[in-house]
Amino acid sequence: MQPPLVHLVGAGPGDPDLLTLRAARLLQLADVLVHDRLVGQGVLELANPRARRIDVGKAAGRHAMAQQQINELLVELAAPDRVVVRLKGGDPFVFGRGGEEAVHLLRHGIRVEVVPGITAALGCAASVGIPLTHRGLARSVRFVTGHCRGDEALELDWEGLADPETTLVVYMGTAQIGEIADRLIGHGLSPTTPVAVISDGCSPAQRVVRCALDGVAAVPTGGRPTLYVIGRVVDVVDHEAELVGVLPIDPRLFEVAGHG
Ligand SMILES: C[S@@+](CC[C@H](N)C(=O)[O-])C[C@H]1O[C@@H](n2cnc3c(N)ncnc32)[C@H](O)[C@@H]1O
Repeated sequence: MQPPLVHLVGAGPGDPDLLTLRAARLLQLADVLVHDRLVGQGVLELANPRARRIDVGKAAGRHAMAQQQINELLVELAAPDRVVVRLKGGDPFVFGRGGEEAVHLLRHGIRVEVVPGITAALGCAASVGIPLTHRGLARSVRFVTGHCRGDEALELDWEGLADPETTLVVYMGTAQIGEIADRLIGHGLSPTTPVAVISDGCSPAQRVVRCALDGVAAVPTGGRPTLYVIGRVVDVVDHEAELVGVLPIDPRLFEVAGHG
């Protein structure tokens, strides 16, 4: 008999329309669904109604369940003929500790399937019309986390990050964004570099504030999941036009495709 299997599934940035088909199919097949806080309600509603649901959600600084406990829970749940879906916001392998879960499961002889999801950087940028790379403006993009463990200082490659031709996307940066801005400016990035502060991206509650790098620390985020996109690409598209972004899909398209 094959060893048991856990599906480590990316739920994308919030909007259920941005799930992969594979994620949606697995949600419908799930016997057990282990999810975290950032998974949108609309995504959870797609899951098998008979599935056992376990919320291991974490709010900033308040762990509902420690990572080690989550790892152990997944090992306990894994069983032959049981579809165990571990659903994580965005992509499981981008700042989601999915790698730790995969390693732990594999060490216990459990197979792991990883289903990628649209990470917040890609979802939020598309949703507000920011091309993360753009010929002549940005030839690379970097994803960094502003989160530090305990009292650790935030040590990033400031020299490399303060490159006007790199788009920088900061996850979990709210507590440190003032320091991040100061360090980037201190390493030569212009204080007028445009920034988009995107909270609750790809959801009906999405909020976007555009500002300059030297003013970003003053933007309130209200404790909501927030992403910072820093770089010249933020101003490529005329945002007043409101012609770009992820739009609610016309349900008639699904009927035509036979999914209605
Ligand atoms: C623990 S990380 C998880 C990232 C996730 N694995 C991904 O690929 O998007 C959580 C951080 O991602 C960002 N984030 C996730 N979803 C978001 C959303 N819908 N809008 C804005 N930021 C989001 C925020 O910076 C949040 O603090």
